[in-house]
Amino acid sequence: MNFEEIQRLTQEGLTPNYSRYPVAFIRGIGARLWDVNGKEYLDFLAGIAVCGAGHCHPRLVAALQQQADMLWHTSNLFYIGPQAVLGKRLGDLAGGYQCFFCNSGAEAIEASLKLARKIGKTVLGGKWQIIACEESFHGRTFGALSVTGQPKYHFGFEPLLPGVRFVPYGDLPSLENAITDETCAVIVEPIQGESGVKIPDDGFLPGIARLAKERSFLLIVDEVQTGLGRTGKLFAFQHYQVEPDIIALAKTLAGGFPMGAMLAKPQWAEHLTAGSHASTFGGNFLASAVALAFLDVLEEEKLPERATEMGDRLQQGLKRIVGEQGEIRGKGLMVAAEFSEPIAPALRDACLSAEPTGLIVNAIGDRILRFVPPLIVSEEDVDEALEIFARCWSAVRAKKQ
Ligand SMILES: Cc1ncc(COP(=O)(O)O)c(C=O)c1O
Repeated sequence: MNFEEIQRLTQEGLTPNYSRYPVAFIRGIGARLWDVNGKEYLDFLAGIAVCGAGHCHPRLVAALQQQADMLWHTSNLFYIGPQAVLGKRLGDLAGGYQCFFCNSGAEAIEASLKLARKIGKTVLGGKWQIIACEESFHGRTFGALSVTGQPKYHFGFEPLLPGVRFVPYGDLPSLENAITDETCAVIVEPIQGESGVKIPDDGFLPGIARLAKERSFLLIVDEVQTGLGRTGKLFAFQHYQVEPDIIALAKTLAGGFPMGAMLAKPQWAEHLTAGSHASTFGGNFLASAVALAFLDVLEEEKLPERATEMGDRLQQGLKRIVGEQGEIRGKGLMVAAEFSEPIAPALRDACLSAEPTGLIVNAIGDRILRFVPPLIVSEEDVDEALEIFARCWSAVRAKKQ
């Protein structure tokens, strides 16, 4: 199929809720993709911070193929070996949690909110309200959307879940002021991803954890984007020495195969009693087998350490190119460039259409570019991406003048 045919079928057959770049890929290896015309791209978006092991990592492909030959799905009415092994391994890695598996980030958030409500009602004396942050992103289902602090995503879908209060991200005094006797949980991203890689002061997360203990509410940390190596630690909360009550994971959990997870401390997990929550596909054989292979790769290829090294290299290179014309920030391989002028979409387009190799990056609004490459990215990949970016930067800036 050529690109025009794919585009026509998309317009005819699909709902128009995505604005897509004019490219269709057919093949990927590591940090590289090829489109239907055979053009090569360096992928510094990784399916929106998903493909941590890169595209078609041989270990993940083998795990998927092997499991596909054996058994795909039976439902959670039965015991599922790979899910059991994954749950124990993931829970231990996080520091002693029990896992509920689902299929996406939004579902991991739904499970987290439902568990917090259940505990609020049955353990914390009827508490039910939730505090979330402005500019946050937690997903598109009604519950996840209700705690997403971006009114543009709420438009047309109200009324949303009641009892949610928003406070400015990073502002501990405002958060403290918003706590009431009815607050059952605070939900927070350790670093805000979708709003442009916003990193709070080091005291923010520990401050919420302290308040959670003092005022008896749960700390839900949304690690959907930051989790499993991206920021240079296995979990981003480990930068801050806090112990969340509940953790939401998805994105890179099965290296690009759909999977989400809610992790809860055992004293809380026990309140998700039999029948109180479920997912037909959650933790199926295929997703669990690939997630186990992803964890093997993460450990053997030291992906968190690599994220720190490559992230520093990327940030330094971007700083050299952008100079005083913007701010470069990030942790590990979660990096953003914020410009003083509204040039992010033009830069993104120039990078995508660069020849002979394109560079895939993501524009957030008109001033921020986000770089979230696969965690297996090499020095050569980073240097080549910087070289493409430098060319596009000069071209876009020259056009502006
Ligand atoms: C921090 C965070 N939470 C939740 C989600 C929702 O995940 P999904 O799109 O898999 O539902 C996202 C997606 O970008 C995210 O970045």
